[in-house]
Amino acid sequence: MKLTNKMLVAKAAVLALWAMGAQATTDEAVAERIKPVGQVCVAGQECAGVAAAATASAGAAARSGDDIVAKHCNACHGTGLLNAPKVGDSADWKARADAKGGLDGILATAISGINAMPPKGTCSDCSDDELKAAIKVMSGL
Ligand code: HEC
Repeated sequence: MKLTNKMLVAKAAVLALWAMGAQATTDEAVAERIKPVGQVCVAGQECAGVAAAATASAGAAARSGDDIVAKHCNACHGTGLLNAPKVGDSADWKARADAKGGLDGILATAISGINAMPPKGTCSDCSDDELKAAIKVMSGL
């Protein structure tokens, strides 16, 4: 075999090895990239993907009445600003509720807003249930 042929064979062998190596890293990289999506969850076993998704959606779960009040309602209702019924002044809240047919009546006003009371009390992403929970906390009703 001529020297140049030998070199060609050697080169081909190196090239083949390199190609296999490259293929291996590519497969690993692909496996790594598709892992979170392609992962299989087996019944009865912990599934990382599902746990992560559950945690993510828990962040969007209903906030407590206390949370809503602290973040959105207390600014006015804490001090009775602009004649807002005060947190804990159950007599004022009860009179309002009685005048409007109960908790759901004042909930409806809270959603639409009334006078200086802004619609949803500035909590524009609050659900009706979250607003109701906040009203319960403030009114004790
Ligand atoms: C910018 C101030 C302000 C904020 C913030 C605010 N309120 Fe009010 N709210 C008022 C005022 C003022 C009234 C009294 C309105 C009136 O009767 O003229 C009121 C009244 C109410 C009433 C009684 C409605 C009725 O029919 O008598 C409810 C219920 C209520 N607010 C719920 C909430 C909730 C829940 C939040 C928080 C998510 C909130 N408010 C945030 C100012 C505010």
